[in-house]
Amino acid sequence: MKILLIGSGGREHALAWAFKQNPKCDELYCIPGNAGIASIAKCKQIDILDNDKILNFCKDKGIDFVMIGPESPLANGLVDFLDKNGILSFGPTKNAAILESSKTFTKMICSKRNIPTAQYKLASSEDEALICLNEFTKPYVIKDDGLAAGKGVFIAETAQEATVALKKIFQLSKPGSKSVVIEEFLHGEEASLFILTDGDNILPLGSAQDHKRAFDNDRGPNTGGMGAFSPAFNISPKIEKKIIDRIVKPTLDEMRKNGTPFCGILYAGLMIIKDEPLLIEYNARLGDPECQVLAIRLGAQLLDILLNCAQKKLLETKISFADDIGITVVIASKGYPGEFQTGKEISGLESLNDDEEIQVFHSGTAFEEGKLVSNGGRVLSVTARAKDLESARKKVYDALTVIQWENGFYRNDIGFKYFKK
Ligand code: AMP
Ligand code: GLY
Repeated sequence: MKILLIGSGGREHALAWAFKQNPKCDELYCIPGNAGIASIAKCKQIDILDNDKILNFCKDKGIDFVMIGPESPLANGLVDFLDKNGILSFGPTKNAAILESSKTFTKMICSKRNIPTAQYKLASSEDEALICLNEFTKPYVIKDDGLAAGKGVFIAETAQEATVALKKIFQLSKPGSKSVVIEEFLHGEEASLFILTDGDNILPLGSAQDHKRAFDNDRGPNTGGMGAFSPAFNISPKIEKKIIDRIVKPTLDEMRKNGTPFCGILYAGLMIIKDEPLLIEYNARLGDPECQVLAIRLGAQLLDILLNCAQKKLLETKISFADDIGITVVIASKGYPGEFQTGKEISGLESLNDDEEIQVFHSGTAFEEGKLVSNGGRVLSVTARAKDLESARKKVYDALTVIQWENGFYRNDIGFKYFKK
């Protein structure tokens, strides 16, 4: 079959790598892709928010299945549009993707269905938000309501920092056009669970732990994710059942009841406190870099699983998990998630090519005059699988030493807490 991937990150490179190993995949295209994806798929520069152009591309190439990686095309109704035009795609409709595109909406579902989550207040102006702050103690958690590429959450240690964050969120918005969630800070350990759903049935795809802060020991600003491993050690089968019964199922029921069933991957970002899961947020897609660790563990079967879900054949789908660990470490441009430079040469990747259990997935890369250069904030995710975390960590950190890129930085402590135990 002919498959089109939408996106340009490490997530999409990992999906491309997994799809290519499946004999069902005859031709693989990617819009817009990156330098790494271009080595295994045909990339086309089209705006991922231009639904008409994407449809024309699908018709022109005879695409059988479209896999959508990032949230913005989902929120832009790409699934609805392709469906209306008879093209099978993976992901929720626009009205279901709201579970990610509006934090306010998700909080309201939590209240309605008694889903465990942080206590919260909603505010739609800076003044209102400043008043709400008084109801919380530090650290203050402030969330921009809409999509913000993982950078719309501010954890403020003081009331003054919180005030600055609110000013920043509201400064460029028209009155009434923006809202924030202010919530209680949860002290626990984070984990993510990925649930496949065809609207009626569910199937857990696996778990992972992301590392959101930019620097070692969870310091620095929040990022899109600086590294991850899978499975998450703090999600036991008993906790997974609680997550499904108390959080995922009531949410999906509510979506169905509202006439907007959610199909695709529901990514539950959770805080686990004394074995009790609380919902931090939903995403309507696979995570980046969590997808990289799921993909390296699942391999070619990932295509069959996603295809079955899109075709509403989840009940007949089986996932075979190896008893192994996947780990990924992101190398980002110095300055990320703030300002950074691009166009800086990266070398050394060639020497990693012949180990199947180590893959370097590209995010922000490009080729300029035959050289691989950085072209974004998060640039590469070096990903490995092994029988245990200690071996997986060794593989990934050994691989990182051969990559030469002066302008890059990465965290040295991905998975470290567990490795030390
Ligand atoms: P989100 O985009 O909502 O997942 O938030 C990004 C990150 O901010 C999360 O992964 C957490 O590390 C942190 N965070 C968000 N909400 C809370 C909370 N209520 N308590 C503690 N940390 C939080
Ligand atoms: N790594 C977090 C995300 O994809 O949203």
